[in-house]
Amino acid sequence: MMLGRKWFFFGGLILGPLIAVIIVGIGLWPWRATSIPPRWENNIATRSLHAAVAREAKNLKAPISASEETLRAGMKIYRSNCAGCHGDFDQPSKWGANGFYPRVPQFLQAPPALRSEEMFLIVQGGIRYSGMGSWKDLMSEQETWKVVLFVNNLQSLPPAVKSEWEAGKHE
Ligand code: HEC
Repeated sequence: MMLGRKWFFFGGLILGPLIAVIIVGIGLWPWRATSIPPRWENNIATRSLHAAVAREAKNLKAPISASEETLRAGMKIYRSNCAGCHGDFDQPSKWGANGFYPRVPQFLQAPPALRSEEMFLIVQGGIRYSGMGSWKDLMSEQETWKVVLFVNNLQSLPPAVKSEWEAGKHE
């Protein structure tokens, strides 16, 4: 009787992964980015990402302050490199909001619950299994700090920067 139960238990352990391998092998695993990601999946992924960057950024401190000049420079970098996916001041990115799995967070509607230092690590490192690539070879550390400080202050921009942001200024 005990042996029977054990077989049942170990059989189950093997059968689960085996079924998964078969589903993948015969081409039944879903692959489209247009499917709507379930909330539980988003929650698990976000929680694991945020826990990891919080741990790694614990002793990191932004080397520059969020001065008007920094925020203005960050705004330009954001507009040229990030807005196409994360959204501009008055419009979410349709592509980002519907075309990625996981979806691209729209920062104007949902500002990230992250410190600038955590965002710095994310922009430098990119995020696995997502459309968020690493900017390490494309953007200097200085520029990266400027853009994350901008994102972190999106809701509290100084009036001069805010009016340029809302006027859609690029240069
Ligand atoms: C090609 C589309 C794309 C571009 C361009 C892009 N991102 Fe992302 N970004 C994503 C996706 C997709 C995610 C969500 C990944 C996930 O949830 O696993 C993301 C997530 C993030 C996050 C984490 C947000 C959170 O709350 O967990 C930060 C911070 C971020 N991006 C910053 C930036 C910055 C700054 C830029 C510009 C330098 C940028 N991204 C450019 C697609 C993009």
